Amino acid sequence: MGGTTAKKASPGRIAPSILSADFARLGEEVAAVSAAGADLLHVDVMDGHFVPNLTIGPPVVTSLDHVTDLPLDVHLMIERPERSIESFRKAGADWISVHAEACTHLHRVVQQIRETGARAGVALNPATPLSHLDLVLADLDFVLIMSVNPGFSGQKFIPACLDKIRMMRARIDRERLSIDIEVDGGIKVDNIAEAARAGANVFVAGSSIFESADYAATLSSMRKRLAAV
Ligand code: DX5
Ligand code: ZN
Repeated sequence: MGGTTAKKASPGRIAPSILSADFARLGEEVAAVSAAGADLLHVDVMDGHFVPNLTIGPPVVTSLDHVTDLPLDVHLMIERPERSIESFRKAGADWISVHAEACTHLHRVVQQIRETGARAGVALNPATPLSHLDLVLADLDFVLIMSVNPGFSGQKFIPACLDKIRMMRARIDRERLSIDIEVDGGIKVDNIAEAARAGANVFVAGSSIFESADYAATLSSMRKRLAAV
């Protein structure tokens, strides 16, 4: 665990999503993106109900925590996430996000994440308006804007999400909050700068990194694009 409880926005962090990694060689894949300069590791947890796909649970997060110093950014695409937050935190999650669409009592769930000491985030599907965050925003460390419909890696970035990021950034700045905007889905070397210009500062990238021949080269191209924003 990285003990990342501070509420601080920081520029340009890249979070490879292990959903696109070779699960049979997960440890090596994590070591490779870590050596390639990843800032955090994005871990997609899917329950086959909230999204039509099933992935991993706390035991795999525990194993990841044992093999890497990278902060673990655990994106819970599950129904009733309140039942699992504690286990994921114990397993080593440093950042935990839940979907607004999956929480009947979103305020309570956000407090629950905060109480574990993890950085607290709420994720929004592409069709969910920002207003769902109105009454919890001040308690968040980060907002996760989905730029694809969650469930699978390798989908195409939905351009309408750029406006959503712009609106979120404007609001965060207007209210002088220190909240990261993480964008997730379809991020590639060619569009990462556009997402950054819109106001995102944490970039999840799955297929564009893990399907590339040279992870370090891809991460460095992404950083060059970010540096030019
Ligand atoms: C989608 C997941 C994403 C996904 C990103 O449901 O939340 O994190 O792994 O993969 P790419 O970058 O390939 O869209
Ligand atoms: Zn994700």
